[in-house]
Amino acid sequence: MLVLGIETSCDESGVALYHSERGLLAHALYSQIALHADYGGVVPELASRDHIRRVLPLTRDILRQAGCALTDLDAVAYTEGPGLAGALLVGASIAHGLAYALGVPALGIHHLEGHLLSPLMTKPAPQFPFIALLVSGGHSQLMRVAGVGSYELLGETLDDAAGEAFDKTAQLLGLGYPGGPAIAQLAEKGRPGRISLPRPMLHSGDLDFSFSGLKTAVLLQVKGRDLDARARADVAAEFEAAIVEVLVAKSLAALQSTDLKQLVVAGGVGANQKLRTRLTKATTARGLQVFYPALEFCTDNGAMIAYAAMLRMQHTSPLSPHASPPKRSFGVRPRWELSALQPVSA
Ligand code: KG4
Ligand code: ZN
Repeated sequence: MLVLGIETSCDESGVALYHSERGLLAHALYSQIALHADYGGVVPELASRDHIRRVLPLTRDILRQAGCALTDLDAVAYTEGPGLAGALLVGASIAHGLAYALGVPALGIHHLEGHLLSPLMTKPAPQFPFIALLVSGGHSQLMRVAGVGSYELLGETLDDAAGEAFDKTAQLLGLGYPGGPAIAQLAEKGRPGRISLPRPMLHSGDLDFSFSGLKTAVLLQVKGRDLDARARADVAAEFEAAIVEVLVAKSLAALQSTDLKQLVVAGGVGANQKLRTRLTKATTARGLQVFYPALEFCTDNGAMIAYAAMLRMQHTSPLSPHASPPKRSFGVRPRWELSALQPVSA
């Protein structure tokens, strides 16, 4: 069975072909970072228009790379939400148009489910149930994952997401967008601890996060001061250390409180090398295991959407994509709680 996955929830056009037996056949990504760079963040209308330009040419490229034709597709999966409404609508309308023309189903996938299941694409893969730390530009959540579609929210951010805190702090330091990689790079040249930033909610006794105070603390450090290069690098290093310390502590607490042994890290902030190093060290020391998606599948991509759709189709019997006729109408869900999904039966 061959699935085309289309991701257009934010500022990346991602497409991929996933085959049930042969795995990932081809994938391609077009990042709009340069398009939004002058604005310090994503401009929704520009994002939508660019997705329109990119998705079909990228799809033609991966079909060629994989030696497949459109008529080989058994399903077309797309990100239904959450995300920017206009951007989501581009992927949804292309997916439904293709699916209708080919007479195959169109599957709307939850973007965070894509992120959450993406570490299962890499071997060795974690086994259900596991804890997932989902840290992206829009979300910071700890979930208990019992199976495909079975996601229990254990804790989440009360304000800014971890990636959002990276992006906003990068702006305060005069760095570009996206802020995560820019701060990580600057932090290499600095030393944590030379200035002091808070570790918000580290001892709150629950699994929630809060990152907006951290950004405000950075603002107080930089406001009205002409920081030299070393001082800016020290702020970046301390900021990164603070976020990583809180994420590691809460992930360990989630494993302990559920008595689970496996942690999966997903979402753009999961690409952060400091976070990976600290989490690997902390889990190994406790006889626990941590799993990461390949770096290229940490941030938004089409492979995770095709893969999540494939898992959903494999877990839903009877296994016939042609059983459900293509729909003639569709919508998107810019806001959509992951825990609202229903478990799919094996
Ligand atoms: O998952 P993602 O690509 O998009 C969303 O669904 O939000 O995550 C993007 C976020 C951005 O906030 C970006 O700054 C952050 O992930 N990010 C990082 C790193 N790479 C991307 N944050 C910290 N360190 C990184 N290396
Ligand atoms: Zn994402």
